[in-house]
Amino acid sequence: MPYGKFITFEGPEGSGKSTHIRLLATFLREQGIRVTLTREPGGTPLGEAIRGLLQHNGSGEAPVGRAEVLLFLASRAQHVERLIRPALEAGNWVLCDRFDDSTLAYQGYGRGFDLNELLAVNHFAVGGLKPDLTVLLDVTPETSRARLATRHSLTASAPDRIECEAEDFHIRLRNGFLNLARREPDRFVVLATEREQDEVAAEIRSAVIQRLTEPADAC
Ligand code: TMP
Repeated sequence: MPYGKFITFEGPEGSGKSTHIRLLATFLREQGIRVTLTREPGGTPLGEAIRGLLQHNGSGEAPVGRAEVLLFLASRAQHVERLIRPALEAGNWVLCDRFDDSTLAYQGYGRGFDLNELLAVNHFAVGGLKPDLTVLLDVTPETSRARLATRHSLTASAPDRIECEAEDFHIRLRNGFLNLARREPDRFVVLATEREQDEVAAEIRSAVIQRLTEPADAC
């Protein structure tokens, strides 16, 4: 059984990750590919419990920066060992809403932790697993803020701990994602999302086809 492909979706809040990951999953399933759709933090019962702790101060106490890093990594370690690797080994394609680049962007560029230290602890957490393709959905902080405000008013929800960070955090975060993509152009595809959703979805599909599927047999 050939290994499945591992595709991650990254970007600031309000970049359309959850919509586009679902659209890609539907497309791949239509091609007969078995897809496992998952997210971080989360993806396992332990990971989802950690998500609750991280996003809404589920313990009643905000984690300090280093504890925040380690909680994201604890969720990821569990996720890789219990869900992602077994799914890839079974031949499924795994589509994951956020993965290690979010730690580098949020805790590295956003909070100011050293990128090399983060890379080392992340490597420990995932045992060396790397995505085959990372789709970075880019959005300006202004559009991100406007889309989040609409989402919260439609769903009567409150912004989470990280969404409440100051404007300069969100600027560093966006630039951080773009820097990460510049460092690994073979792994990343970067798409601007302030345009028609169908156009973005079509570009995601063609990036996946070009980069991850075998060329058709020559006749
Ligand atoms: P979201 O995926 O629903 O946007 O929520 C996840 C939040 O957690 C989002 O604010 C990004 C943040 N996050 C980090 O700060 N570091 C990480 O490593 C991951 C996976 C997410």
